[in-house]
Amino acid sequence: MLPILAIFVLCASTINCISHDLPDYFPRCSIDDPNLNKCLLKAFTTVRPYVKKGVKEIGILPFEPLVLSTFSLSQETNLANFTVTASNFSVRGIDNYNVKETNYNPNTLVFSTKMEFDPLSFSTIYKMFGRILHIAIDGKGEAEAALGPINATIVIKGELIDTEGTEYYNTANIKVILSIKDGNFTLGGLFGGDETLGRAANEALNQFSPEVIEAVTPAIEQLAEEMIMKFMKSFTGSVPYYKIFPK
Ligand SMILES: *[C@@H]1O[C@H](CO)[C@@H](O)[C@H](O)[C@H]1NC(C)=O
Ligand SMILES: *[C@@H]1O[C@H](CO)[C@@H](O)[C@H](O)[C@H]1NC(C)=O
Ligand SMILES: *[C@@H]1O[C@H](CO)[C@@H](O)[C@H](O)[C@H]1NC(C)=O
Ligand SMILES: *[C@@H]1O[C@H](CO)[C@@H](O)[C@H](O)[C@H]1NC(C)=O
Repeated sequence: MLPILAIFVLCASTINCISHDLPDYFPRCSIDDPNLNKCLLKAFTTVRPYVKKGVKEIGILPFEPLVLSTFSLSQETNLANFTVTASNFSVRGIDNYNVKETNYNPNTLVFSTKMEFDPLSFSTIYKMFGRILHIAIDGKGEAEAALGPINATIVIKGELIDTEGTEYYNTANIKVILSIKDGNFTLGGLFGGDETLGRAANEALNQFSPEVIEAVTPAIEQLAEEMIMKFMKSFTGSVPYYKIFPK
């Protein structure tokens, strides 16, 4: 069964929150460039220091840290069955990416990329109920985790839409596939603050961390898809398509 997820974001569902060109210092890849993919690969690396701090004028929020105010997600599979609500969720290290491959087909409007990330660290205020593998989780409080290294394959599909005579890329679908090597977890406030039960659950999570991570990967992929969707809507919703890919 698919995880259900809702993230509350500003400016995510509306195209064209603001309309701008890319900043001068941004690389541009021409849509007619026979080496478009090579250009994109280079551009991804060039923009890294800028996205780290965020580029407000084109709707790119700071990536370091990346902060989500609140979201909830649940997963119901044989391996993991839980619901979690998070607030003040922050991720560190996302800007430390290495792009291995980019592929954009201007005819089909499909973009795909393979990226590698060093371990990411997460911290959040959370409330969670359910189980991961055989480990029962029932708690609320603060949680921290580190995950990685991570390999990600991202596929983005969309269409061009016309808004008052200007074309924008409207992202329709995002698919993320993650391979997460390992990680560790510290969940506070488990079982109403019962220290013995809380310690046992944390020890079990960390003892079986590769299996735990594999079990919850569908939920993490779903979260990544929502985060990238939020990014895409705000970026391609504010910069016209032919400003991103000049003819
Ligand atoms: C998940 O947990 C709910 C109760 O919290 C239960 O009703 C449901 O059957 C469980 N699903 C699986 C696949 O274990
Ligand atoms: C939210 O997280 C940031 C760091 O990520 C921290 O400085 C801030 O105090 C947190 N706010 C609350 C309400 O916990
Ligand atoms: C990521 O891919 C590289 C090859 O490009 C491989 O050596 C590495 O083991 C992979 N890491 C993970 C976490 O899957
Ligand atoms: C937690 O995992 C991260 C990334 O895999 C690693 O760098 C760190 O040393 C680990 N910390 C502990 C306490 O195991």
